[in-house]
Amino acid sequence: MATIFSGIQPSAQAPHIGNYIGALKQWVELQEGNDALYCVVDLHALTVPQDPKKLQESIDQTYALLLAIGLDPEKSTVFVQSQVPAHAQLGWVLQTISTMGELSRMTQFKDKSAKFKDSIPSGLFTYPTLMAADIVLYDTQIVPVGEDQIQHVELARNLAQRFNNRFGDTFVVPNVQIKKEGARIMSLADPTKKMSKSDENKHAAVFLNDPLDVIQEKLSRAVTDSQTEITFDPERKGLYNLLSIYKILTGKSEVEIEQDMKGKGYKEFKQEVAHQVITLVEPIQTRMQELLSDRTALHDSMKRSAEKAASRAQKKLEEVYSKIGL
Ligand code: AMP
Ligand code: TRP
Repeated sequence: MATIFSGIQPSAQAPHIGNYIGALKQWVELQEGNDALYCVVDLHALTVPQDPKKLQESIDQTYALLLAIGLDPEKSTVFVQSQVPAHAQLGWVLQTISTMGELSRMTQFKDKSAKFKDSIPSGLFTYPTLMAADIVLYDTQIVPVGEDQIQHVELARNLAQRFNNRFGDTFVVPNVQIKKEGARIMSLADPTKKMSKSDENKHAAVFLNDPLDVIQEKLSRAVTDSQTEITFDPERKGLYNLLSIYKILTGKSEVEIEQDMKGKGYKEFKQEVAHQVITLVEPIQTRMQELLSDRTALHDSMKRSAEKAASRAQKKLEEVYSKIGL
């Protein structure tokens, strides 16, 4: 049994199938037989300007989504970051042992700050220290994320080691866990780019809350190539991406899929992929609507989980405060 921690930002835009395949699917698998904590990281969302009403709604939506994909509050601790004050408190402490140099090297900071020109929010810069706090508060051993978060988990490892060296053994040094397959699902409109929530092209990503006909439409338009045979060839990026999605959702082997698709055209194959995606998202959407229709029950569930997380986190924070002389 391992201690697992991961987080997802609440956003008005629901996660896409890249988020699901790269991260969320593993979360559900890992809750079996492990001590797993999953967090809606609302404090992280504040690193870019937010509308308060919309943020509140996004937190509910994201929390409901985590339950709808199959995270079970009886098996794992699914909670909202701002409801456990120790995250922000330890975040500050870790910020004081981090350096400008190491934070400047974060590629996500470089990407995201480029949009802000002269007035880059400083929270965007210090964000990885808060993420490190999220992780080390619970003696986390494994952090399941997509590829783009590896560098942040590396930093969490460095900060945990640095703290341990300066103040004595306090934190478990966490390990990142990346799925070999699906860690990087590509845009349907441009398979050389990662599938992303913020893509301007409306056909780039399939979102978990997309109407079913929209899913069909997006997949039917997915960029492929002018060849005809359906085979796993990483050079044929568009097709390879669709095949990867199909493989992960069906659990079939590459040989089996190539066999099944012999003699079939792209149109038919894309319909098959759409069918698999719809089979995945339809029950998630139904469950999410049910959960969101009773906000009192939803908020009660959040509160209970936050209390569970907080009693663990508070102990760690007290140990840290005492070690650093507070
Ligand atoms: P975010 O959308 O940045 O909150 O990411 C949530 C999780 O999904 C993180 O673990 C990311 O690494 C993962 N993720 C984001 N985009 C993709 C993608 N295109 N393929 C696979 N995983 C992804
Ligand atoms: N930074 C992550 C993302 O944008 C979210 C996150 C915050 C996280 N804290 C975390 C992920 C701790 C894993 C562990 O996707």
